[in-house]
Amino acid sequence: MSKQAIRRSFDRAAPRYDSAAALQRQVCELLLARLPEIRPASILDAGCGTGYALGLLERRWPEACVVAADFAPGMLREAGRDRPRVCADVEALPIASASFDLYWSSLAFQWCDPARAVAEAARVLAPGGQLAISSLAPGTLAELDEAFAGIDGHDHVLAFAAPDTLATACAASGLGDIDVEQRRLCLRHANLATLLRGLKTLGANQIGAGNHQGRRPGLLGRRAWSAIEARYEARRDAAGLPATYEVMLCRARKPGS
Ligand SMILES: C[S@@+](CC[C@H](N)C(=O)[O-])C[C@H]1O[C@@H](n2cnc3c(N)ncnc32)[C@H](O)[C@@H]1O
Repeated sequence: MSKQAIRRSFDRAAPRYDSAAALQRQVCELLLARLPEIRPASILDAGCGTGYALGLLERRWPEACVVAADFAPGMLREAGRDRPRVCADVEALPIASASFDLYWSSLAFQWCDPARAVAEAARVLAPGGQLAISSLAPGTLAELDEAFAGIDGHDHVLAFAAPDTLATACAASGLGDIDVEQRRLCLRHANLATLLRGLKTLGANQIGAGNHQGRRPGLLGRRAWSAIEARYEARRDAAGLPATYEVMLCRARKPGS
């Protein structure tokens, strides 16, 4: 999926994103809880989406200047006009080096080249600055991947970077005090169609069922769709259909004062 297509997809999804973003809010809270006692004067939320974390960060550090960045203009609109914002790619930020005391990014890096994005994060961090990133690891939506396996020639789940990718990228970018924790979160859905609709509402068009997402059974054919549904249904338990997310919570520090 091209970067342009990802951007378009999030741009379109922005007005309804919040209605499907329960996991994303939970991950922001986990990431915030893992931050050490710091007093940043300036914070960048890179890939801010509709801005849930901006509110969390502003409440925790009311004195700080919190800047929103995202490459989807629709997301930045939802994040609010009254905030400092920049429409930009986190892999190439139009921001001077050493500008922020805290670089924050939640669930945007799985859409990026993590090495480039971490290098940019390290560049815009001031000496002594704190990095906080969440992303997704292989195993995320494994149930969906397995349900679609062999049905057609398409990938139906995003190729997530290996768990050590973020730590390696942090070290290569000169960051220290690197700590990456992996947490498994499991959502439950009423049925497969609801799960796919939720992913589409988020704009996560490739994280789930690729080009077919939300358009069943037309594109797939009824027989293929029934086979996928039956495979997924075999995983149902008392709480519903499980959808696993392998969440990586990464923090690091830029050496310096
Ligand atoms: C799943 S949403 C997460 C949004 C928000 N951080 C949250 O936790 O709800 C991913 C966001 O990252 C943005 N994004 C993805 N790749 C990006 C890139 N290369 N540069 C800037 N933003 C990007 C998308 O536009 C989208 O708003």
